[in-house]
Amino acid sequence: MINKLEQLKEEAIKKIKEIKNLDALQNLEKQYLGRKGELTAILRGIADLSIDDKKKIGRLSNEVKNELKENFLKIKNIIEARASDASFVDVSLPGKTIEQGSVHPISQMINDLDDLFSKMGFMVLDGPELESDHYNFTALNIPADHPARDMQDTFYIDKENKKGELDMVMRTHTSPMQVRAMQKYGAPLRCVVPGRVFRNEATDATHDTTFDQIEGLMIGEDISLANLSAVLKEVLHGLFDEELEVRIRPGYFPFVELGLEFDVACTICKGAKCPACKHTGWLEMIGAGMVHPEVLKYGGIDSKKYSGFAFGIGLTRLAMMKHKIDDIRLFNSGDLKFLKQF
Ligand code: DAH
Repeated sequence: MINKLEQLKEEAIKKIKEIKNLDALQNLEKQYLGRKGELTAILRGIADLSIDDKKKIGRLSNEVKNELKENFLKIKNIIEARASDASFVDVSLPGKTIEQGSVHPISQMINDLDDLFSKMGFMVLDGPELESDHYNFTALNIPADHPARDMQDTFYIDKENKKGELDMVMRTHTSPMQVRAMQKYGAPLRCVVPGRVFRNEATDATHDTTFDQIEGLMIGEDISLANLSAVLKEVLHGLFDEELEVRIRPGYFPFVELGLEFDVACTICKGAKCPACKHTGWLEMIGAGMVHPEVLKYGGIDSKKYSGFAFGIGLTRLAMMKHKIDDIRLFNSGDLKFLKQF
């Protein structure tokens, strides 16, 4: 019996020390010291003992009971003190897993393009997403009443400029940076401007209200379409492991004189026609041309001495073709299942 009591004491003390909350502590106390508890069960056998043994066991059981009560009280105090101490950190709790992020496919594309263009001597510039009507349209040879404004419907901002005019827009393209760069750096000039642009669009698999472009501009003496072709070829080769089929056709943009559009054969359906290429097998990827003399003039550059090419690449579409993503809306969806693939 003595052994049993000692064993019970040791076992109970060990368990008390592991307890972390008051409910569990109360249950444990009941289990050992309650009326139907383990100590009472042992003491039931006392009736068959001699008077001396009864005394001995009685004393011992009292000692065990008191010691256990003390232990229960001690742990109860500790648990209560922790509960009222806001700075307490329970180091035994499992940790919070920190999810590892990944570079967004658009950011990856911007990084790759920055590298490629830097190697060819282009500056990488950044421009304002909230742009003036002047730089977004007028200075690009799209005056206020020009129908070409309809091609790029955007979000007009309800805030007057210093002259009291409502002229702030979410930029519809990265092209406004052409004139800003010319004004700041003059000629000769080589720069690219990656960045986010906005349109008031009905969204579908190939159109979103927010997407990315990269603008390119090269100005110098005797710059021609041959230079444009060489630069774009270099970039597409640098970005894609596979050979891309490219189709060039005339295109109209008011800020170039001799405008071109480059379509890339859809890498997703390989010409079989899918929603990503609007069932045509081709994706409009690049608008380009020789910079219009009017635009050079706005940029403060002498169009008799200098000429230049400009291009705007649909950076988001480039990322779609590279990673074979068939819906543009995924990029800004914030969907981790999508983002974790890159
Ligand atoms: N800014 C045009 C667009 O968003 C694309 C573009 C076309 C840019 C021709 C250019 C260019 O620099 O020369 O539709």
